[in-house]
Amino acid sequence: MGEEGGCFHEATIMGQDGIPRTVRVPVVQELARQGLKFLPERFIKARNPSHEANITLPMFPSINMAKLGQQAEPGVRAQELAQLASCAKEWGMFLVTDHGIHPSVVHGVKDVVQGFFRLPLEEKRASVGSYASIDNMGYGRNFVKSEDQALDWIDRLAMKAAPKGVDEGLLVWPQKPPNFRQVMAKYVEQGRKLCDHLLQALAEALSLSPHDFIQNFDPEWSEINVRVNYYPPCPQPELALGITPHSDASGLSLLTQFGCSGGLQVLKGLNWVTVPWPCDELLVNVGDLLEIMSDGRLKSPWHRVVATEKERFSVALFYNPPCSTEIQPVEDGDGAYKKVVVGDYVRHFYEISPTLEKQAIAYAKKA
Ligand code: OGA
Ligand code: NI
Repeated sequence: MGEEGGCFHEATIMGQDGIPRTVRVPVVQELARQGLKFLPERFIKARNPSHEANITLPMFPSINMAKLGQQAEPGVRAQELAQLASCAKEWGMFLVTDHGIHPSVVHGVKDVVQGFFRLPLEEKRASVGSYASIDNMGYGRNFVKSEDQALDWIDRLAMKAAPKGVDEGLLVWPQKPPNFRQVMAKYVEQGRKLCDHLLQALAEALSLSPHDFIQNFDPEWSEINVRVNYYPPCPQPELALGITPHSDASGLSLLTQFGCSGGLQVLKGLNWVTVPWPCDELLVNVGDLLEIMSDGRLKSPWHRVVATEKERFSVALFYNPPCSTEIQPVEDGDGAYKKVVVGDYVRHFYEISPTLEKQAIAYAKKA
């Protein structure tokens, strides 16, 4: 089957005339199955060569959550908090170990995700409903803004996992594999605990009250979105991107990956740096909402995904305060940020399709 052979995701974009239009985006997994030698033109991304420094880091900062627990020896805990402060400020991103999520839970996630993506296309489609009115959810397209944009080398599956009842009446969780939702729910529950612990530790690490960030995350109404990213093997990975440069709109993002490593890059100064992130390990990054809460003391890192020769999967949990929460930046920062309502910020984020030149976070900065 050629590129025009009929395996497409559909996406709705807003035309310049203000009228929504449906565009078709190839199912990347189906393209990859054809064993192409060359990357189809729609996926070719112009990259700035001077930002491709090919820096290889031997390792990446890692935080041992057990050392941040109340039972930890005070000197050990203080040292780990200092390490947390330094990597959260320097990278906005770090690995976590001894995090209390059992390896069997992470492996369960890997199994159901692979199980889903190994289904034939028609079964994948039949297995998942869609959020009719919410763009960028369900199985299929990555976020598409215009007809002529260079496309990301990715298929993805996105679901709302919290608050309770958010998906009522919507058939958005895959029916196959049959334990998909149950396995993911367990991971989400444990992931939330880890994020809650981190939110308190991050505040402490900045010498704030432990409550300062987590007070925005109402236990009943906070949101958790699950995003499964599938990056099929790419014929010319140096020409493609799995995900275009972005920062996450979230409070915190928690990620795991499997298949292969080496896809995630973070912007450090002017250079894209590959994150040394072993498979099955957990990685956390600060999102825009936490940058705002911290009055800019924590940075939401710009990151992107490069395509790889081998297939790669990642699962991201995006943890946000409830939509209606007004977040107030902490007082003893630089006073550079103003208070914003979470839902307004997130809406703005998706409306403007942020780029490095036009960042969503400007919305929350004082003039
Ligand atoms: C994301 C993201 C990174 C990855 O889903 O927002 O940045 O490695 N994913 O897939
Ligand atoms: Ni991201």
